[in-house]
Amino acid sequence: MSDELKKKVDFWLEQAREVYGPLHFDPSERGTDPLPVLAAAHPLEALRLECEAAAELRTDLPGTNLVFGYGKADADLMIIGEAPGEQEDQEGVPFVGRAGQLLTKILAAIGFTREDVYIANILKHRPPNNRDPLPEERERSLPYLERQIDIINPKLILCLGRISAQTLLRQPKAELKDLRGKFHIYRGKYELMVTYHPAALLRNPEWKHGTWADVKQLRARYDELCPT
Ligand code: URA
Repeated sequence: MSDELKKKVDFWLEQAREVYGPLHFDPSERGTDPLPVLAAAHPLEALRLECEAAAELRTDLPGTNLVFGYGKADADLMIIGEAPGEQEDQEGVPFVGRAGQLLTKILAAIGFTREDVYIANILKHRPPNNRDPLPEERERSLPYLERQIDIINPKLILCLGRISAQTLLRQPKAELKDLRGKFHIYRGKYELMVTYHPAALLRNPEWKHGTWADVKQLRARYDELCPT
């Protein structure tokens, strides 16, 4: 195994342990080819490995890192943004830049940490100059995201911003104002709410009131669906 591959495997193992706890195999027994063993440890990890190799998930910005997702593998709430930015690309983790810090605060305001939920994006690679994901890029990425959603099997999905909502709800012309603030049924089985993207909130702080109303409604529905 090359040093580069070994480094990658060690990174995946570390992330997998963080997300899933102890893995169901002993890394010291992994032998010369750990990938199949690692893939078998959890379906989400298998999907991550597939995404690492998937050329169709890439944008036309060369050399980007996969930003697969972050959080609890069986979360009841899944948050879906648009696409990784520069910092997300560097770290391989979604929502770690300025918009991500605001997202963390929004989650805290309704009693969640980033580890209580699962966070992903429509695109798993950064587009050049942070441009909007193209319709064909979204189409190429969607089958992988749908499989990711089905593995996590959340009770609720929160779409951040127009691109996320239009893509998942398959309403490419819909406006955010018509989609947010209410629950939609997504693919016949998930309740889905739409709110403003935190990056848009940084530019338009007057939208914070609307966001607060949306996420309060989301939390109330979460408490109904997931009583403690
Ligand atoms: N914006 C997004 O939509 N996703 C990220 O991961 C970061 C910023």
